[in-house]
Amino acid sequence: MSDLGANGETLEALLSEERRFPPPDDFAAEAVAQPGVYAAAAADPVAWWAEQARSLRWETPWETDLEWEPPFARWFVGGRLNASVNCVDRHVEAGLGARVAFHWVGEPEDDTRTITYAELHQMVCQAANALTELGVKTGDRVAIYVPMIPEAVVAMLACARLGAPHSVVFGGFSAEALAGRILDLGARTVITADGGFRRGAPSGLKVNVDQALEQCPEVQSVLVIRRTGQEVAWQEGRDLWWHELVDRQSPAHTPEAFDAEHPLYVMYTSGTTAKPKGILHTTGGYLTHVSVTHRLVFDVKPEEDVFWTAADIGWVTGHSYIVYGPLANGTTSVMYEGTPDAGGRDRWWRIVERYGVSILYTAPTTIRTLMKWGEELPASHDLSSLRVLGSVGEPINPEAWMWYRRNIGGNRCPIVDTWWQTETGGIMITPLPGVTTTKPGAAMAPFPGIGADVVDNHGVSVGNGQGGYLILTQPWPGMLRGIWGDPERYRETYWSRFPGRYFAGDGAKRDEDGDLWLLGRIDDVMNVSGHRISTTEVEHALVSHPGVVEAAVVGASDPTTGQAVVAFVTVRGEGPEGEAGRELVDDMRAHVASVIGPIAKPRQILLTPELPKTRSGKIMRRLLRDVAEHRELGDVTTLLDPTVVNMIDEKLRHAPQSEEEEP
Ligand code: WTA
Repeated sequence: MSDLGANGETLEALLSEERRFPPPDDFAAEAVAQPGVYAAAAADPVAWWAEQARSLRWETPWETDLEWEPPFARWFVGGRLNASVNCVDRHVEAGLGARVAFHWVGEPEDDTRTITYAELHQMVCQAANALTELGVKTGDRVAIYVPMIPEAVVAMLACARLGAPHSVVFGGFSAEALAGRILDLGARTVITADGGFRRGAPSGLKVNVDQALEQCPEVQSVLVIRRTGQEVAWQEGRDLWWHELVDRQSPAHTPEAFDAEHPLYVMYTSGTTAKPKGILHTTGGYLTHVSVTHRLVFDVKPEEDVFWTAADIGWVTGHSYIVYGPLANGTTSVMYEGTPDAGGRDRWWRIVERYGVSILYTAPTTIRTLMKWGEELPASHDLSSLRVLGSVGEPINPEAWMWYRRNIGGNRCPIVDTWWQTETGGIMITPLPGVTTTKPGAAMAPFPGIGADVVDNHGVSVGNGQGGYLILTQPWPGMLRGIWGDPERYRETYWSRFPGRYFAGDGAKRDEDGDLWLLGRIDDVMNVSGHRISTTEVEHALVSHPGVVEAAVVGASDPTTGQAVVAFVTVRGEGPEGEAGRELVDDMRAHVASVIGPIAKPRQILLTPELPKTRSGKIMRRLLRDVAEHRELGDVTTLLDPTVVNMIDEKLRHAPQSEEEEP
């Protein structure tokens, strides 16, 4: 390990909190060109955000910057704009129609498309006309369940153009999960594809839609993109091919401007209860937040940069930093359909080389996977085009940070570790490249105009060198406006723990310099490969299996995926042994995949005659986590029967684990 550092430094030296990386001298960042950006924003955050909002195109200027009746915020009140015009039309009108919006790379080798802003404009107009023909009107919700293909972006922007809030459901969710979202939204239109590619093999999406719609009689139209060419079932009168309906539409469409607070989209995310929450984002504030963070956090220069967010469009990272942020800034992006190892474990580096990617944004779990594959792969490609590297989705461990810096960034690219959530809409805590002196593993400081603090149980700020709960202290433009259909739950979930302040659900630490380090979730939410999964939701799925009596789920730390789902299950009767036991466990894992999706499959399920409970009957998840992580067991004195947990511990040490790759 001693040769990890560029100058033969020891691992300890590299990882010490003393370790600092000042911005390179020759890094002329946009934020540097705005001296005093932090001070200006701190002096009057609302006015600073309003200044940023002026870089968008507004059809009607707003009257009031912010109306704040905690916890309900309205930004840029009275202003009117169209998100799709801001992302596409205005760039074409400014003479940038020939600029590439997306270098799209399909999973199969040599399956690529280049889409200019002019082409994107035409595609969005045609899709908006097609949706209008299907009867989609302002305010109607549209569910989108698609692979990572350009039509995914087109569908989102076409909805935005019509003021029809979209809800993109990640392709890794099951039919059951899709149905739940469609019903919660009351969507009557679904956009999907026949399927997508997953490590060379076509997987089905339309088939899941068909199954989901058995529970959703309100859905009137299903628009189907042909991606794989696989056979699909067809319901006449409901199902339509995208290429038949969209391609024959006029390439002209006159957009309408919508209120700044008009709903733009709903993105479902897991919370501490079994039912996912529909996080609502609106138009003007969200677009302001994602465009300015995209510009400053990644130092984007739209004339030169090639930006690549290696995430799925089905998550908020894809919404904010594949679609709305980059397009609002007129940036050229790479969009890649597949997994990092499709066509070889150097696939990413071939993409960086081929398109001259200058900014790469990805998740620590992927960085750790790339680490496992070895540094020879990136070393054998020319990555000199890279100049900024980003990380998102979970705490990045210092080793991964250092590996990323050295082997991908050539020791020259600033790394921005960006903390944010589906609920925050855009980046909240982050270094600024060219400005911030970074520390491996620290997200450092709130973005200009953002207020964050670390507090103790009573809501009192902790001092330097201490940890506590992360809270956000003032409204920000990209903040969620509510939970779809449930305003009370919005208040209760985020604003009641510390009244008037936003409770993020994350632990954080301030170091001796006052810089911020994120420590992960402190609630019942797991973070598996950067995906948020609720322990309660997985428990509910398990209990709906006919063989299961009771289930307790914990997130156990995992060297690659951050956390892994581990379940403890009691079954009817004695519970089968040996082969029969293994079959039952496989069946339970498949059951979870069918109720939620393959991403939620437990890595390990332990069948046990009993679960450790307190005298009042509460399952002691904390102890189960100790067991799952093979740690010394914590305090067992409140247990009804302390021997249960030792028995489980013993069993787990001898139980088989699933090594199956997650999707
Ligand atoms: C975690 C993804 C540490 C955190 C954009 C948060 C992070 C949850 C970081 C939100 C980071 C995200 N450092 N933890 N840089 N970024 N998280 O809603 O626990 O899918 O609450 O949004 O991911 O996940 P979500």
